[in-house]
Amino acid sequence: MKAIAIAHPNIAFIKYWGNRDQDLRIPVNGSFSMNLDGLSARTQVTFRADLEQDSLILNEKTLQGAGLQRVSQILDEVREVAGISLHAQVISENTFPTGAGIASSAAAFAALALASSKAAGLSLDEAALSRLARHGSGSACRSIPGGFTEWQSGESDQDSYAFSIAPPEHWDLADCIAVISSGHKAIGSTQGHALAATSPLQGGRVADVPRRIDICRRAILERDFDTFASICELDSDMMHAVMMTSNPALFYWQPSTLRVMQSVRDWRAEGLPVFYTIDAGPNVHVITPTKKMREVKDKLANIEGVDNVLTATVGGPTRLVES
Ligand code: PMV
Repeated sequence: MKAIAIAHPNIAFIKYWGNRDQDLRIPVNGSFSMNLDGLSARTQVTFRADLEQDSLILNEKTLQGAGLQRVSQILDEVREVAGISLHAQVISENTFPTGAGIASSAAAFAALALASSKAAGLSLDEAALSRLARHGSGSACRSIPGGFTEWQSGESDQDSYAFSIAPPEHWDLADCIAVISSGHKAIGSTQGHALAATSPLQGGRVADVPRRIDICRRAILERDFDTFASICELDSDMMHAVMMTSNPALFYWQPSTLRVMQSVRDWRAEGLPVFYTIDAGPNVHVITPTKKMREVKDKLANIEGVDNVLTATVGGPTRLVES
């Protein structure tokens, strides 16, 4: 009873920030993202009769406590549906640095959802896998389908899942991730979602989401880079305004984060098609057509405080490697 799955992280264009149900991770607003090819999590799940409890090895380190508990919750769901009581060994590896704002949990829980359900003998459809991944980490639901994906917020556990709005080959875009080291570990997104409602700006951000979603969807479907750039930067800035004005306040930006944001705006004014978007960390995701990826990567690497630049094109769905 073993299966291995590979999933990509995703970068959000319209951000998910705040839950209407914190336990089930049902968001207050819908969101968009694209999967990041080249970066991935590879997760192997084996249900075994000789295990007395679940175990988790992440990047060759054995994890206990909260990390293992979050994984066991997903395994419990799978066990219940499959009608089995065996414990599982989970071995997961990331091809990118964890905890650096590159949504390692999204790829990890998407891969876990597919590998654990397959290992238990289940064949869940895409929506069911997306819901299962969502229970581990909200944004993980968007890594199940391929390419450009939309997570419809839904009103219940059943109708809150993601689907693809366009395949990877729809638009040749690249994400150049300017990795900026931060001296301290920021508050994780699970805690951050719980604070969103304490910001007086969250109501305004959420009320305007349907408008931004419509503009973003149309920009993606019509490959309209300029409209896409301005709506994505606005959405990212609005989420960070909420973070900075919540109680306690969350400041994810570092001085180098702002240096990169300013440079990206300057380059765009000079005619280079680029924009920035930032998740819950100091790193800046700089989106550009693939043909400009090399140029943008080199420019970013020259900015003070940028440690290194990772690049990714648009990735496919979470897939099974071996079963
Ligand atoms: O899935 P979580 O709980 O890690 O939340 C992700 C939140 C953001 O990355 C900041 C935004 C998003 O939509 O991915």
